[in-house]
Amino acid sequence: MSDLHDSKDKLAEPLVLAERRGRVGLLTLNRPDHLNALSDAVIDLLGDELEAMDADESIGAIVIVGAGKAFAAGADIGAMAQWSYMDVYKTNYVSRNWDRLARVRKPVIAAVRGFALGGGCELAMTCDMIIAAEDARFGQPEIRLGVLPGAGGTQRLPRALGKAKAMDLCLTARMMDAQEAERAGLVSRVVPVESLLDEALEAAARIAGFSLPVAIMIKESVNRAFESGLSEGLLFERRTFHASFGLQDQKEGMAAFVAKRRASFTHC
Ligand code: CAA
Repeated sequence: MSDLHDSKDKLAEPLVLAERRGRVGLLTLNRPDHLNALSDAVIDLLGDELEAMDADESIGAIVIVGAGKAFAAGADIGAMAQWSYMDVYKTNYVSRNWDRLARVRKPVIAAVRGFALGGGCELAMTCDMIIAAEDARFGQPEIRLGVLPGAGGTQRLPRALGKAKAMDLCLTARMMDAQEAERAGLVSRVVPVESLLDEALEAAARIAGFSLPVAIMIKESVNRAFESGLSEGLLFERRTFHASFGLQDQKEGMAAFVAKRRASFTHC
């Protein structure tokens, strides 16, 4: 585990760039020469930055984008090539640093252009929404490498787009374009390449303008749909809905509607 810069150039920029755009945190996977391949160093740094943004009260939503022409072409194959079963089992590869990405409580948008393959597709699916550029291509081609998807692909893909397409992608290693991904329900919007970042930032800014605790409650409740049966999920939603009446933001949001003015949320 390694250097948090590209090893070829110690003076280069970090492997993940973190910026603020108002109440939006923007994280850029910054390894474009390797199509943003997700080495341990990238995932460690991404986890650090996500956790810092999650803890920062002044950030309401986060966007992850890839530098250059790809989102991410997967886990770093060069790094994995010589690992043995014991290397990955004893060090709990993937779980050891990817699992924290899914624990972020604020809404996270993946802005995908170009390849989102293997771990790149899995990273995008770990986010809460995927906005895709017209040139986006999704796939789980691990079978070509003699392994299977290992960062959630066999579980999140069928939940996102059903068994038929999940089997097709994982077993044939074919790529799916943005239009097919949108039709299948993997992607929430497809936008022109040149407006991808603006669209993602605008969606994140819109979310960040609403009540932060309510956005977190919505994320928890929607995710509960994948973790429980319908009656348990509905109960979770109902109790969380009840809890939202304890927020100042509920008083403000409803008062603003009644007074025909814009709500000003204080995130408490
Ligand atoms: N790991 C490491 N390096 C990668 C990479 C990866 N996943 N994907 C691309 N690169 C590197 C290439 O080695 C190349 O580097 P060099 O210039 O130093 O040779 C550079 O990025 C550009 O790639 P290509 O020259 O291959 O670009 P291309 O346009 O011809 O092809 C591609 C693009 C089809 C995406 C091809 O790069 C490719 O097939 N990449 C691998 C995709 C893949 O199998 N991903 C799954 C990884 S396993 C995984 O993710 C496991 C898991 O579930 C956690």
